[in-house]
Amino acid sequence: MKKFHLTTFGCQMNAHDSERMKGMLTSLGYAEVEARDDADLILFNTCSIRENADNRFISHLGEAKRLKTEDPGRIVGVGGCWAQSVKEEVFRRFPFVDVAFGPGQIHRLAEFLNSDSLTAQGYFEFEEFSGDLPSHRERQFQGWLQISQGCNCACSYCIVPTTRGREESRDPDLLIAEAERQSAEGVIELTLLGQNVNSYGRDLPKETRIRFSDLLRRVDQVDGIERIRYTSPHPKDMREDVIEAHAELSGLCEHIHLPLQSGSSVILKKMRRTYTRERYMDRVAMIRERLPDCGITTDIIVGFPGESDEDFAQTLEVVEEVGYDGAFTFIYSPRRGTLAAEMDGQVSHPVKKERMAALLEVVQRRAKAEAQRFVGRPLEVLVEGPSRNDPTRIRGRSRQNKAVNFEGTALPGQLVEVDITEATSQSLTGTERLLSRIAV
Ligand code: SAH
Ligand code: SF4
Ligand code: F3S
Repeated sequence: MKKFHLTTFGCQMNAHDSERMKGMLTSLGYAEVEARDDADLILFNTCSIRENADNRFISHLGEAKRLKTEDPGRIVGVGGCWAQSVKEEVFRRFPFVDVAFGPGQIHRLAEFLNSDSLTAQGYFEFEEFSGDLPSHRERQFQGWLQISQGCNCACSYCIVPTTRGREESRDPDLLIAEAERQSAEGVIELTLLGQNVNSYGRDLPKETRIRFSDLLRRVDQVDGIERIRYTSPHPKDMREDVIEAHAELSGLCEHIHLPLQSGSSVILKKMRRTYTRERYMDRVAMIRERLPDCGITTDIIVGFPGESDEDFAQTLEVVEEVGYDGAFTFIYSPRRGTLAAEMDGQVSHPVKKERMAALLEVVQRRAKAEAQRFVGRPLEVLVEGPSRNDPTRIRGRSRQNKAVNFEGTALPGQLVEVDITEATSQSLTGTERLLSRIAV
């Protein structure tokens, strides 16, 4: 039996693509191995969102080169967004790479591996969605559902539109059938994936066109799916119908990830985000009014070209005002082929680092303060496994997407009630209510 090893970098989209690559390889008779040295096929699913993503990958690739030199019979394959962004250059710069392909070509992996003369080939065309691939889920009870691929936005810092192509929504009936199949296989929490989920459906033919909120309604009706999540929405397209869906649908979790990027309208304009600070704050107000208990998280970039102290101060103001339950914070990283990489006013690294530290202080202080609302309450938690820092305790997530560490006896995949006793900026602590299993 042939053996493969796959390393995944990047976002949930890549994690999901990797699950599908694994499913496909298993059906071709390959077995997954833990150590890269043991593999006949060494695969990478790459990311290129920031420079440090590239750097992390390059050191892994160095090891693949060494293994390939030791045993030239091994195959080295590189897929994903980094491969797409450098295309055929992969083979020039890294001649030991046998196969390279973009995120749009995963379904052709079998073809590459079965071709008799496995020569250096590049597969970088965008194709239709490679949907019905077998998938190897990391956890049996949590599934992904990719509702669209690509992105039609033009955020000036972002490489994704060039690595994943134009936006294409998948047919709603196919998506529901896939949700039903996953539910039958034991999935109880389903996460809908897209670069901009709110624009779902706009490109569909008239006969099948539905809005994102309609899709959420249909998924909510699938038996056995207890929790629905989605990522990411774009604030410009976040409308009342989606917020209403949160209020109405029992399966849809009380969590909205609303990427801010910057609190300054001037910078937002340069970022081509197409909303202003005011419009963003309107969305937040609408969420707070209709869904008082909803967790709100965000993404923020510091040090975008031209960001002045005053612009940055506005980001801090927004974070202070919103009080996010959590934020992914990034130092701006110029990406090849993007508009922002060519802009004047690139911010120096020390200033970026200073701003990052100041931002983290506000993010954490506000998140900690907001999290106190859970203390003294029971929360529904989906158990994921043992706690990371203390294996005698159990770890899971609340519907608001808070990590919860608790004492108890529950098993992965169970929904239990946990009495929350403590809250930090990162996680909640509590005790399981015995005899309160919500579902098994
Ligand atoms: N489509 C999603 C995810 C995009 S990538 C969305 O729009 O929300 C995830 C995050 O990475 C972005 O939200 C942004 O905050 C960050 N990011 C993207 N490009 C970046 C860059 N060049 N430098 C720093 N952060 C970046
Ligand atoms: Fe990138 Fe913007 Fe598209 Fe998100 S919405 S993937 S940040 S271009
Ligand atoms: Fe995801 Fe990285 Fe591509 S964040 S979409 S894998 S560039």
